[in-house]
Amino acid sequence: MAIPASETVVFGIIGAGTVSTLHASAIRNCSEARLAAVADLCEERARKLADGASTYTSYHSLLERPDIDVVCVCVPSGMHMSVCMDAAQAGKHVIVEKPLEVTLEKADAIINACDAAGVKLGVIFQLRFLPDVGAVKETVSSGTLGKLVMGDAYVKWHRSQDYYDSSDWRGTWQMDGGGVLMNQAIHHVDLLQWMMGPVDSVFGYTATLVRERIEVEDTAVACLRFTSGALGTIEACTSAKSGVPARLEIRGETGNIVLEDGKIVLWDVDNVSQPAFEPVDMGSGFSDPKAITSVGHQAQIRDMVRAIKENRPPAVDGHEARKAIEIITAIYRSARAGVPVKLPV
Ligand SMILES: NC(=O)c1ccc[n+]([C@@H]2O[C@H](COP(=O)([O-])OP(=O)(O)OC[C@H]3O[C@@H](n4cnc5c(N)ncnc54)[C@H](O)[C@@H]3O)[C@@H](O)[C@H]2O)c1
Repeated sequence: MAIPASETVVFGIIGAGTVSTLHASAIRNCSEARLAAVADLCEERARKLADGASTYTSYHSLLERPDIDVVCVCVPSGMHMSVCMDAAQAGKHVIVEKPLEVTLEKADAIINACDAAGVKLGVIFQLRFLPDVGAVKETVSSGTLGKLVMGDAYVKWHRSQDYYDSSDWRGTWQMDGGGVLMNQAIHHVDLLQWMMGPVDSVFGYTATLVRERIEVEDTAVACLRFTSGALGTIEACTSAKSGVPARLEIRGETGNIVLEDGKIVLWDVDNVSQPAFEPVDMGSGFSDPKAITSVGHQAQIRDMVRAIKENRPPAVDGHEARKAIEIITAIYRSARAGVPVKLPV
């Protein structure tokens, strides 16, 4: 299973839809990786993404190839468990899109299958890999902000009716696992808990206000109490006329930091100056799901390659990735029951 440092790590991609282009370009950008094959039920889509690599309409045929070391799982969210478990049983390392799965039970089944097969499980949360976000995490974790008092995530995005109508899995409980919280805001829910620490309890309201023919929420708010005692909020929608960059606000006794679209826009920290990085063009993913930068995916694919070669866990493994699913599950339960919900759920 271990791959020598000098060798190329061979990738396959399962699911050749919207997000798969970020995986393909990330693999092609990594000098230690090669894309060998793509599988999609739609042959034309697979061929377009493969650009010369082999294509399959059955992902089982891709998994039979002994030369493939790792597969990127880019199928609809509620199919992640079956594909990841098949990949693990075939001895392939797995890098799967967010959310790891649509329920905690299915997420745990993937974690257990990968552990049992002795393969690595990496889960895409690409925002964690942006330079500004990493620097903020380091600063918060070092205690420089003093006692943390508030952590807020604002994800006021736009997803058109056409987006929800484009595939029959979108906006369903079974395949999407939820609406704006489980699909879009999960990135910022993840960052919030990564920075602020575990969540003790939540109270949520969700609503379907504008989008039609969906089972899930297009608008959501939640109040959070973190285990540390700090408080916070999540406000998220895909229903507004247009989207704006997502904001993450971390406030402590001795420092305030605000990130917008993964970039630091407020740095007010006692005795520590703001780090400076090359600006990253984040695209306009807040309004258009096809306009997301591949910069984060590139860093995460590189991390997976290094994890395989160094035989260490990837930076975002299954246990890390399930934390955001648990918080969102608690918000959904709270919204349904009309009462606060304590974690673990
Ligand atoms: N990290 C991000 O920012 C980001 C962005 C978009 C989507 N995603 C995630 O990526 C996943 C896919 O989303 P998408 O928007 O690309 O969906 P999509 O509908 O555009 O693409 C899914 C693809 O999977 C294929 N597929 C379905 N069942 C299959 C099977 N059994 N075998 C092979 N192929 C199969 C479909 O034909 C389709 O081409 C979701 O989990 C989503 O949450 C993540």
